Amino acid sequence: MKILAIETSCDETAISIIEAKGGLKKPQFKILADTVISQINIHKEYGGVFPALAKREHVKNLLPILGETLKKAKMLSFEKNHKTQITNYKQNTKYKTQITKIKKILEREVEMVEPLLDFLKNNKIPKIDAIAVTQGPGLEPALWTGINFAKALALAWDKPFIPVNHMEGHLVASLLKLKVTSSKYKGVEFPALGLLISGGHTELIMVKDWMDYKLIGQTRDDAVGEAYDKVARMLGLPYPGGPEISKLSEEFSKNYSLPTTHYPLPRPMLHTNDFDFSFSGLKTAVLYTVKNIKNHAYRQAGMTPEIKKEICAEFENAVVDVLLFKTKKAVAKNNIKTLILGGGVTANKKIRKEFKKLEKELGIDVLVPDAKHSTDNAVMIGIAGYFRYLDNKVLLPNKTAKIRAEGNLAL
Ligand code: KG4
Ligand code: ZN
Repeated sequence: MKILAIETSCDETAISIIEAKGGLKKPQFKILADTVISQINIHKEYGGVFPALAKREHVKNLLPILGETLKKAKMLSFEKNHKTQITNYKQNTKYKTQITKIKKILEREVEMVEPLLDFLKNNKIPKIDAIAVTQGPGLEPALWTGINFAKALALAWDKPFIPVNHMEGHLVASLLKLKVTSSKYKGVEFPALGLLISGGHTELIMVKDWMDYKLIGQTRDDAVGEAYDKVARMLGLPYPGGPEISKLSEEFSKNYSLPTTHYPLPRPMLHTNDFDFSFSGLKTAVLYTVKNIKNHAYRQAGMTPEIKKEICAEFENAVVDVLLFKTKKAVAKNNIKTLILGGGVTANKKIRKEFKKLEKELGIDVLVPDAKHSTDNAVMIGIAGYFRYLDNKVLLPNKTAKIRAEGNLAL
Protein backbone atom coordinates (compact mmCIF):
# COMPACT_ATOMS: atom_id res chain seq x y z
CA MET A 1 0.00 0.00 0.00
CA LYS A 2 1.01 3.60 -0.51
CA ILE A 3 1.01 6.02 2.41
CA LEU A 4 1.37 9.77 2.36
CA ALA A 5 2.88 10.92 5.67
CA ILE A 6 3.16 14.36 7.24
CA GLU A 7 5.47 15.45 10.08
CA THR A 8 5.40 18.89 11.73
CA SER A 9 6.18 18.19 15.39
CA CYS A 10 9.13 20.56 15.69
CA ASP A 11 11.20 22.60 13.26
CA GLU A 12 11.12 20.34 10.21
CA THR A 13 8.22 20.39 7.77
CA ALA A 14 8.27 16.98 6.13
CA ILE A 15 6.08 15.01 3.74
CA SER A 16 6.81 11.58 2.30
CA ILE A 17 5.16 8.93 0.21
CA ILE A 18 6.19 5.35 0.92
CA GLU A 19 5.18 1.98 -0.41
CA ALA A 20 4.80 -0.59 2.36
CA LYS A 21 4.29 -4.35 2.24
CA GLY A 22 5.07 -7.57 4.08
CA GLY A 23 2.85 -7.05 7.13
CA LEU A 24 4.12 -6.90 10.71
CA LYS A 25 6.35 -9.97 10.38
CA LYS A 26 8.35 -9.01 7.32
CA PRO A 27 7.76 -5.34 6.74
CA GLN A 28 9.44 -3.80 3.73
CA PHE A 29 9.45 -0.21 2.61
CA LYS A 30 10.27 1.76 -0.48
CA ILE A 31 10.53 5.53 -0.48
CA LEU A 32 8.66 7.05 -3.42
CA ALA A 33 9.33 10.63 -2.31
CA ASP A 34 10.84 12.18 0.79
CA THR A 35 10.83 15.93 1.35
CA VAL A 36 12.12 17.78 4.41
CA ILE A 37 12.38 21.53 4.84
CA SER A 38 14.38 22.51 7.88
CA GLN A 39 13.66 25.77 9.69
CA ILE A 40 17.06 25.75 11.42
CA ASN A 41 18.16 29.03 9.87
CA ILE A 42 15.04 30.76 11.15
CA HIS A 43 15.37 29.47 14.73
CA LYS A 44 19.16 29.81 14.93
CA GLU A 45 19.06 33.41 16.13
CA TYR A 46 16.85 32.40 19.07
CA GLY A 47 19.22 29.56 20.02
CA GLY A 48 16.32 27.08 19.98
CA VAL A 49 12.94 26.42 18.44
CA PHE A 50 10.35 29.18 18.79
CA PRO A 51 6.88 27.49 18.61
CA ALA A 52 4.87 30.34 17.04
CA LEU A 53 7.49 30.76 14.33
CA ALA A 54 7.58 27.01 13.74
CA LYS A 55 3.81 27.03 13.18
CA ARG A 56 4.01 29.99 10.79
CA GLU A 57 6.67 28.23 8.72
CA HIS A 58 4.74 24.95 8.60
CA VAL A 59 1.65 26.83 7.38
CA LYS A 60 3.76 28.44 4.67
CA ASN A 61 5.57 25.26 3.63
CA LEU A 62 3.05 22.43 3.77
CA LEU A 63 1.20 22.96 0.51
CA PRO A 64 4.29 23.66 -1.65
CA ILE A 65 5.97 20.59 -0.13
CA LEU A 66 2.89 18.49 -0.83
CA GLY A 67 3.03 19.49 -4.50
CA GLU A 68 6.75 18.82 -4.67
CA THR A 69 6.44 15.42 -2.98
CA LEU A 70 3.57 14.26 -5.19
CA LYS A 71 5.54 15.40 -8.20
CA LYS A 72 8.64 13.45 -7.12
CA ALA A 73 6.48 10.35 -6.64
CA LYS A 74 4.95 10.97 -10.09
CA MET A 75 1.53 11.34 -8.52
CA LEU A 76 0.81 14.93 -9.38
CA SER A 77 -1.48 15.02 -12.32
CA PHE A 78 -3.09 18.12 -13.48
CA GLU A 79 -6.81 17.64 -14.07
CA LYS A 80 -7.25 17.65 -17.86
CA ASN A 81 -10.77 18.95 -17.79
CA HIS A 82 -9.84 21.29 -15.11
CA LYS A 83 -12.20 24.08 -16.17
CA THR A 84 -15.19 21.77 -15.83
CA GLN A 85 -13.70 20.44 -12.64
CA ILE A 86 -13.65 23.94 -11.16
CA THR A 87 -17.24 24.54 -12.16
CA ASN A 88 -18.18 21.20 -10.70
CA TYR A 89 -16.34 21.98 -7.55
CA LYS A 90 -18.21 25.22 -7.11
CA GLN A 91 -21.64 24.03 -8.17
CA ASN A 92 -21.86 20.50 -6.91
CA THR A 93 -23.48 20.53 -3.47
CA LYS A 94 -21.28 17.65 -2.31
CA TYR A 95 -18.27 19.86 -2.88
CA LYS A 96 -19.96 22.82 -1.26
CA THR A 97 -20.36 20.99 2.04
CA GLN A 98 -16.84 19.66 1.68
CA ILE A 99 -15.47 23.18 1.21
CA THR A 100 -17.34 24.34 4.31
CA LYS A 101 -15.86 21.45 6.29
CA ILE A 102 -12.35 22.15 5.03
CA LYS A 103 -12.70 25.80 6.03
CA LYS A 104 -13.77 24.71 9.51
CA ILE A 105 -10.85 22.28 9.86
CA LEU A 106 -8.40 24.99 8.82
CA GLU A 107 -9.97 27.83 10.80
CA ARG A 108 -6.67 28.46 12.59
CA GLU A 109 -4.64 28.14 9.43
CA VAL A 110 -6.88 30.36 7.28
CA GLU A 111 -3.99 31.33 5.01
CA MET A 112 -3.96 27.75 3.76
CA VAL A 113 -7.63 27.53 2.77
CA GLU A 114 -7.74 29.24 -0.65
CA PRO A 115 -4.43 27.84 -1.93
CA LEU A 116 -5.49 24.36 -0.81
CA LEU A 117 -8.90 24.62 -2.48
CA ASP A 118 -7.19 25.73 -5.69
CA PHE A 119 -4.78 22.81 -5.42
CA LEU A 120 -7.65 20.37 -4.90
CA LYS A 121 -9.53 21.78 -7.86
CA ASN A 122 -6.55 21.63 -10.18
CA ASN A 123 -5.09 18.24 -9.38
CA LYS A 124 -6.42 14.73 -9.52
CA ILE A 125 -6.72 12.69 -6.38
CA PRO A 126 -3.38 10.85 -6.00
CA LYS A 127 -3.28 7.06 -5.89
CA ILE A 128 -2.45 6.72 -2.23
CA ASP A 129 -4.20 4.43 0.26
CA ALA A 130 -3.98 6.40 3.49
CA ILE A 131 -2.68 9.59 5.11
CA ALA A 132 -0.53 9.36 8.25
CA VAL A 133 0.33 12.34 10.43
CA THR A 134 2.28 12.98 13.63
CA GLN A 135 -0.13 13.54 16.53
CA GLY A 136 2.54 14.06 19.21
CA PRO A 137 4.73 14.41 21.16
CA GLY A 138 6.09 17.78 20.09
CA LEU A 139 5.24 21.46 20.05
CA GLU A 140 1.46 21.70 19.99
CA PRO A 141 1.06 24.73 17.68
CA ALA A 142 3.40 22.99 15.22
CA LEU A 143 1.66 19.60 15.54
CA TRP A 144 -1.77 21.17 14.94
CA THR A 145 -0.81 22.53 11.52
CA GLY A 146 0.19 19.09 10.25
CA ILE A 147 -2.85 17.42 11.81
CA ASN A 148 -5.33 19.93 10.38
CA PHE A 149 -3.70 19.80 6.96
CA ALA A 150 -3.89 15.98 7.02
CA LYS A 151 -7.53 16.07 8.15
CA ALA A 152 -8.42 18.41 5.29
CA LEU A 153 -6.63 16.21 2.73
CA ALA A 154 -8.21 13.02 4.08
CA LEU A 155 -11.63 14.61 3.73
CA ALA A 156 -11.06 16.09 0.30
CA TRP A 157 -9.52 12.91 -1.12
CA ASP A 158 -11.68 10.48 0.89
CA LYS A 159 -8.69 8.61 2.34
CA PRO A 160 -8.26 6.87 5.71
CA PHE A 161 -6.49 8.97 8.36
CA ILE A 162 -3.80 7.50 10.66
CA PRO A 163 -2.57 9.43 13.73
CA VAL A 164 1.05 8.50 14.55
CA ASN A 165 3.27 8.82 17.62
CA HIS A 166 6.48 10.65 16.67
CA MET A 167 8.59 8.44 18.95
CA GLU A 168 7.21 5.28 17.36
CA GLY A 169 8.33 6.87 14.10
CA HIS A 170 11.89 7.19 15.46
CA LEU A 171 11.72 3.60 16.73
CA VAL A 172 10.83 2.18 13.31
CA ALA A 173 13.00 4.48 11.14
CA SER A 174 15.80 1.89 10.88
CA LEU A 175 13.43 -0.66 9.27
CA LEU A 176 13.99 1.20 6.03
CA LYS A 177 17.24 -0.69 5.74
CA LEU A 178 15.60 -4.12 5.87
CA LYS A 179 15.17 -5.67 2.46
CA VAL A 180 13.46 -8.98 1.89
CA THR A 181 15.63 -9.49 -1.18
CA SER A 182 18.68 -9.62 1.05
CA SER A 183 19.50 -13.16 2.20
CA LYS A 184 20.08 -11.81 5.70
CA TYR A 185 16.52 -10.53 6.03
CA LYS A 186 14.66 -12.15 8.87
CA GLY A 187 12.58 -9.25 10.12
CA VAL A 188 13.17 -8.05 13.65
CA GLU A 189 13.70 -10.65 16.35
CA PHE A 190 11.88 -9.96 19.59
CA PRO A 191 12.18 -9.09 22.38
CA ALA A 192 13.86 -5.97 21.10
CA LEU A 193 15.09 -2.94 23.00
CA GLY A 194 14.64 0.58 21.69
CA LEU A 195 17.04 3.36 22.64
CA LEU A 196 15.44 6.63 21.59
CA ILE A 197 17.67 9.67 21.83
CA SER A 198 16.39 12.97 20.49
CA GLY A 199 16.03 16.63 21.37
CA GLY A 200 13.15 15.94 23.75
CA HIS A 201 13.54 12.29 24.74
CA THR A 202 16.00 9.76 26.13
CA GLU A 203 14.22 6.47 26.60
CA LEU A 204 14.89 2.77 26.85
CA ILE A 205 11.88 0.84 25.63
CA MET A 206 11.19 -2.87 25.80
CA VAL A 207 9.64 -3.90 22.50
CA LYS A 208 7.90 -7.25 23.03
CA ASP A 209 6.41 -6.91 19.58
CA TRP A 210 5.44 -4.02 17.32
CA MET A 211 3.03 -1.79 19.20
CA ASP A 212 3.65 -3.63 22.47
CA TYR A 213 5.98 -1.29 24.32
CA LYS A 214 7.09 -0.76 27.89
CA LEU A 215 9.18 2.17 29.03
CA ILE A 216 11.95 0.77 31.26
CA GLY A 217 14.22 3.80 31.60
CA GLN A 218 14.32 7.48 30.77
CA THR A 219 16.11 10.69 31.56
CA ARG A 220 15.20 12.32 34.85
CA ASP A 221 16.04 15.78 33.53
CA ASP A 222 17.51 16.84 30.17
CA ALA A 223 17.31 14.72 27.03
CA VAL A 224 20.63 13.85 25.36
CA GLY A 225 19.96 16.11 22.38
CA GLU A 226 18.98 18.92 24.73
CA ALA A 227 22.28 18.47 26.62
CA TYR A 228 24.17 18.63 23.31
CA ASP A 229 22.32 21.82 22.36
CA LYS A 230 22.89 23.49 25.76
CA VAL A 231 26.56 22.55 25.95
CA ALA A 232 27.02 23.89 22.43
CA ARG A 233 25.53 27.20 23.51
CA MET A 234 27.97 27.37 26.47
CA LEU A 235 30.81 26.89 24.03
CA GLY A 236 29.48 29.55 21.69
CA LEU A 237 28.49 27.05 19.00
CA PRO A 238 25.33 27.52 16.91
CA TYR A 239 22.01 25.69 17.25
CA PRO A 240 21.46 22.75 16.87
CA GLY A 241 24.48 21.79 18.93
CA GLY A 242 24.60 18.06 18.20
CA PRO A 243 26.24 18.19 14.79
CA GLU A 244 28.62 21.01 15.90
CA ILE A 245 29.89 19.21 19.00
CA SER A 246 30.17 15.99 17.08
CA LYS A 247 32.30 17.70 14.40
CA LEU A 248 34.70 19.28 16.91
CA SER A 249 34.92 16.08 18.91
CA GLU A 250 35.82 14.18 15.76
CA GLU A 251 38.52 16.74 14.87
CA PHE A 252 39.99 16.38 18.35
CA SER A 253 40.02 12.59 18.22
CA LYS A 254 41.77 12.66 14.83
CA ASN A 255 44.70 14.60 16.26
CA TYR A 256 44.94 13.29 19.81
CA SER A 257 44.26 10.12 21.64
CA LEU A 258 44.98 11.13 25.20
CA PRO A 259 44.55 8.39 27.80
CA THR A 260 43.11 11.04 30.11
CA THR A 261 41.62 14.43 29.48
CA HIS A 262 42.56 17.80 30.99
CA TYR A 263 38.83 18.42 31.51
CA PRO A 264 37.29 15.31 33.04
CA LEU A 265 33.49 15.22 33.16
CA PRO A 266 31.21 12.98 35.25
CA ARG A 267 29.28 9.92 34.00
CA PRO A 268 26.01 10.59 35.85
CA MET A 269 23.93 7.72 37.23
CA LEU A 270 26.25 5.11 35.79
CA HIS A 271 25.85 2.73 38.69
CA THR A 272 22.29 3.35 39.82
CA ASN A 273 20.14 0.29 40.10
CA ASP A 274 17.78 1.21 37.23
CA PHE A 275 17.79 2.14 33.56
CA ASP A 276 17.35 5.87 34.04
CA PHE A 277 19.63 8.62 32.84
CA SER A 278 20.51 12.15 33.91
CA PHE A 279 22.28 14.69 31.74
CA SER A 280 21.71 17.95 33.57
CA GLY A 281 24.67 17.33 35.96
CA LEU A 282 26.92 16.65 33.00
CA LYS A 283 25.78 19.89 31.40
CA THR A 284 26.45 21.83 34.64
CA ALA A 285 29.90 20.24 34.89
CA VAL A 286 30.67 21.62 31.42
CA LEU A 287 29.45 25.04 32.57
CA TYR A 288 31.90 25.03 35.52
CA THR A 289 34.72 23.79 33.33
CA VAL A 290 34.10 26.63 30.90
CA LYS A 291 33.89 29.19 33.72
CA ASN A 292 37.11 27.90 35.26
CA ILE A 293 38.98 28.16 32.03
CA LYS A 294 37.77 31.70 31.44
CA ASN A 295 38.52 32.84 35.02
CA HIS A 296 41.91 31.32 35.61
CA ALA A 297 44.51 34.04 35.64
CA TYR A 298 47.32 31.70 34.64
CA ARG A 299 45.51 30.76 31.48
CA GLN A 300 46.24 33.83 29.45
CA ALA A 301 44.75 32.36 26.33
CA GLY A 302 41.39 31.53 27.94
CA MET A 303 39.10 29.38 25.83
CA THR A 304 41.00 28.36 22.71
CA PRO A 305 39.61 26.40 19.77
CA GLU A 306 41.75 23.44 20.85
CA ILE A 307 40.36 23.44 24.39
CA LYS A 308 36.84 23.66 22.96
CA LYS A 309 37.48 20.58 20.88
CA GLU A 310 38.84 18.70 23.88
CA ILE A 311 35.75 19.56 25.95
CA CYS A 312 33.49 18.46 23.09
CA ALA A 313 35.35 15.14 22.87
CA GLU A 314 35.15 14.52 26.61
CA PHE A 315 31.45 15.50 26.67
CA GLU A 316 30.72 13.10 23.84
CA ASN A 317 32.74 10.35 25.54
CA ALA A 318 30.75 10.85 28.73
CA VAL A 319 27.43 10.66 26.84
CA VAL A 320 28.48 7.53 24.97
CA ASP A 321 29.79 5.83 28.14
CA VAL A 322 26.51 6.36 29.97
CA LEU A 323 24.29 5.38 27.03
CA LEU A 324 26.32 2.24 26.30
CA PHE A 325 26.53 1.14 29.92
CA LYS A 326 22.83 1.41 30.67
CA THR A 327 21.80 -0.07 27.31
CA LYS A 328 24.11 -3.07 27.75
CA LYS A 329 22.69 -3.63 31.22
CA ALA A 330 19.14 -3.57 29.83
CA VAL A 331 20.09 -5.94 26.99
CA ALA A 332 21.56 -8.44 29.43
CA LYS A 333 18.67 -8.31 31.88
CA ASN A 334 15.90 -8.67 29.30
CA ASN A 335 17.25 -11.34 26.95
CA ILE A 336 17.25 -8.86 24.09
CA LYS A 337 17.72 -10.13 20.52
CA THR A 338 17.62 -6.83 18.64
CA LEU A 339 18.68 -3.35 19.69
CA ILE A 340 16.96 -0.54 17.79
CA LEU A 341 18.35 2.97 17.87
CA GLY A 342 16.38 6.04 16.86
CA GLY A 343 16.11 9.81 17.24
CA GLY A 344 18.13 12.79 16.07
CA VAL A 345 21.17 12.03 18.24
CA THR A 346 21.56 8.70 16.40
CA ALA A 347 22.94 10.80 13.55
CA ASN A 348 26.08 11.08 15.69
CA LYS A 349 28.97 9.15 14.11
CA LYS A 350 30.60 8.06 17.34
CA ILE A 351 27.33 6.82 18.78
CA ARG A 352 26.56 4.88 15.59
CA LYS A 353 30.01 3.31 15.58
CA GLU A 354 30.11 2.35 19.25
CA PHE A 355 26.62 0.84 19.25
CA LYS A 356 27.22 -1.10 16.06
CA LYS A 357 30.13 -2.82 17.86
CA LEU A 358 27.58 -4.41 20.21
CA GLU A 359 26.52 -6.77 17.40
CA LYS A 360 29.75 -8.74 17.83
CA GLU A 361 30.25 -8.06 21.49
CA LEU A 362 26.77 -9.16 22.59
CA GLY A 363 25.69 -11.33 19.66
CA ILE A 364 22.58 -9.26 18.93
CA ASP A 365 21.31 -7.35 15.89
CA VAL A 366 21.76 -3.61 16.13
CA LEU A 367 19.55 -1.50 13.87
CA VAL A 368 20.57 2.11 13.36
CA PRO A 369 18.69 4.42 10.97
CA ASP A 370 20.77 6.10 8.31
CA ALA A 371 21.81 9.62 9.33
CA LYS A 372 19.19 11.24 7.09
CA HIS A 373 16.34 9.36 8.76
CA SER A 374 17.72 9.73 12.29
CA THR A 375 16.60 13.34 12.54
CA ASP A 376 12.97 14.29 12.00
CA ASN A 377 11.45 13.16 8.71
CA ALA A 378 8.13 11.92 7.35
CA VAL A 379 9.30 8.53 6.07
CA MET A 380 9.42 7.21 9.64
CA ILE A 381 5.88 8.52 10.18
CA GLY A 382 4.76 6.58 7.10
CA ILE A 383 6.36 3.38 8.44
CA ALA A 384 4.75 3.75 11.88
CA GLY A 385 1.52 4.65 10.05
CA TYR A 386 1.70 1.33 8.17
CA PHE A 387 1.91 -0.59 11.46
CA ARG A 388 -1.01 1.37 12.91
CA TYR A 389 -2.99 0.74 9.72
CA LEU A 390 -2.37 -3.01 10.08
CA ASP A 391 -3.52 -2.69 13.69
CA ASN A 392 -6.75 -0.98 12.58
CA LYS A 393 -5.91 2.32 14.26
CA VAL A 394 -7.42 4.14 11.34
CA LEU A 395 -10.12 6.81 11.20
CA LEU A 396 -12.62 7.43 8.45
CA PRO A 397 -11.98 10.79 6.74
CA ASN A 398 -15.10 12.41 8.22
CA LYS A 399 -14.45 11.06 11.73
CA THR A 400 -11.20 12.85 12.54
CA ALA A 401 -12.65 15.65 14.70
CA LYS A 402 -11.62 14.04 17.98
CA ILE A 403 -7.94 13.83 17.02
CA ARG A 404 -6.05 16.59 18.83
CA ALA A 405 -2.37 17.51 18.96
CA GLU A 406 -0.84 15.93 22.06
CA GLY A 407 2.38 17.60 23.09
CA ASN A 408 3.20 14.92 25.69
CA LEU A 409 1.86 11.84 23.94
CA ALA A 410 3.57 8.75 25.38
CA LEU A 411 4.47 5.58 23.50
O1 KG4 B 1 14.80 13.63 16.58
P1 KG4 B 1 15.18 15.04 16.35
O2 KG4 B 1 15.47 15.47 14.94
O3 KG4 B 1 14.07 15.99 16.91
C1 KG4 B 1 13.37 15.66 18.06
O4 KG4 B 1 12.41 14.85 17.96
O5 KG4 B 1 13.78 16.16 19.13
O6 KG4 B 1 16.44 15.33 17.28
C2 KG4 B 1 17.05 16.58 17.32
C3 KG4 B 1 18.24 16.51 18.26
C4 KG4 B 1 18.86 17.88 18.53
O7 KG4 B 1 19.02 18.03 19.92
C5 KG4 B 1 20.21 17.78 17.83
O8 KG4 B 1 21.22 18.54 18.46
C6 KG4 B 1 20.50 16.30 17.92
O9 KG4 B 1 19.26 15.68 17.70
N1 KG4 B 1 21.46 15.88 16.90
C7 KG4 B 1 22.67 15.35 17.18
C8 KG4 B 1 23.32 15.15 15.93
N2 KG4 B 1 22.47 15.55 14.93
C9 KG4 B 1 21.33 15.99 15.55
N3 KG4 B 1 23.26 15.07 18.35
C10 KG4 B 1 24.50 14.56 18.32
N4 KG4 B 1 25.20 14.35 17.19
C11 KG4 B 1 24.64 14.62 15.98
N5 KG4 B 1 25.34 14.39 14.86
ZN1 ZN C 1 12.20 13.64 16.56
